[in-house]
Amino acid sequence: MNPNSELGSALQALIVRAEQALDRCLPPADQSPADLHSAMRYAVLGGGKRLRPLLVYATAHALGEDGVSLDAAACAVELIHAYSLVHDDLPAMDDDALRRGRPTCHIVYGEAMAILAGDALQALAFELLADNATQRVDATTVVAMLRALGRACGAEGMAGGQALDLAAVGRKLNLAELEHMHACKTGALIRASVQLGALIAGADADTLGALDHYAHAVGLAFQVRDDILDVEGESAVIGKTAGKDAAADKPTFPSIIGLDASRARLAELTDDALTAIAPLGERGTLLRELAHYSAKRRH
Ligand code: IPE
Ligand code: IPE
Ligand code: MG
Ligand code: MG
Ligand code: MG
Repeated sequence: MNPNSELGSALQALIVRAEQALDRCLPPADQSPADLHSAMRYAVLGGGKRLRPLLVYATAHALGEDGVSLDAAACAVELIHAYSLVHDDLPAMDDDALRRGRPTCHIVYGEAMAILAGDALQALAFELLADNATQRVDATTVVAMLRALGRACGAEGMAGGQALDLAAVGRKLNLAELEHMHACKTGALIRASVQLGALIAGADADTLGALDHYAHAVGLAFQVRDDILDVEGESAVIGKTAGKDAAADKPTFPSIIGLDASRARLAELTDDALTAIAPLGERGTLLRELAHYSAKRRH
């Protein structure tokens, strides 16, 4: 099955664009230190839905911007995401052996190289954004982008959310605590993806606010769907080990409110996202498609 067949042709073309840019920005596998470079390329290339780069492009597109300066931002958010997956799969975290239908990075390259690949991918993301400063985006905007991405990755964002996730194992979180954890570990980077696209496109404060509302809802919906797929999906389709959350006693939407209520919450979040971007009208078509996709995806 074509992993992207659930998306329309415009978004599929943007996936190709993102993948070409990712291939270009990663260091060559035959250049020293070759093991590290190979591990970085393995973690990033050859799979993945590329939702975060798509959000960068779709947001900017909605605001009339389609320039080449978007590629660095699209790569930056995907590099951060790939790094987060490599570390998430480590034995010290979720201890997973399957990712994107292949053995996880540490299974192929060893734990030390997987940790370093994650570190280097994170650093490369910021370097790419900074490079854009001298090239195509004005320095004030680049600083705002660096700040937004740094905040999304850090203790207030993804890393903080991962810490909450680990601390919550075996404990019973309430719904508000669960949503906060999800908003940090997954939502923060999704919000940053939309923010970066909007900053490059020069969005005004009202538009930024509406887009942020959209991104918050999509980010949460995306992780609710991830939790549901862990229960309902098959490993061969989702490309990762199904049933892992329950086995590890992770707090998830289905474990806390049940599958039916999780599906209802997903529908509510999708409506919320769509309402937030209604003022964009026709221009918001790709963003609308991504909101539906985040809620309905099968992998
Ligand atoms: C998986 O993310 C981890 C979560 C944040 C839910 P994705 O579902 O976006 O993973 P890929 O990039 O498509 O493999
Ligand atoms: C991971 O959440 C979120 C991040 C990597 C930041 P999960 O642990 O649920 O992701 P999967 O299910 O392993 O992809
Ligand atoms: Mg995890
Ligand atoms: Mg995991
Ligand atoms: Mg999961």
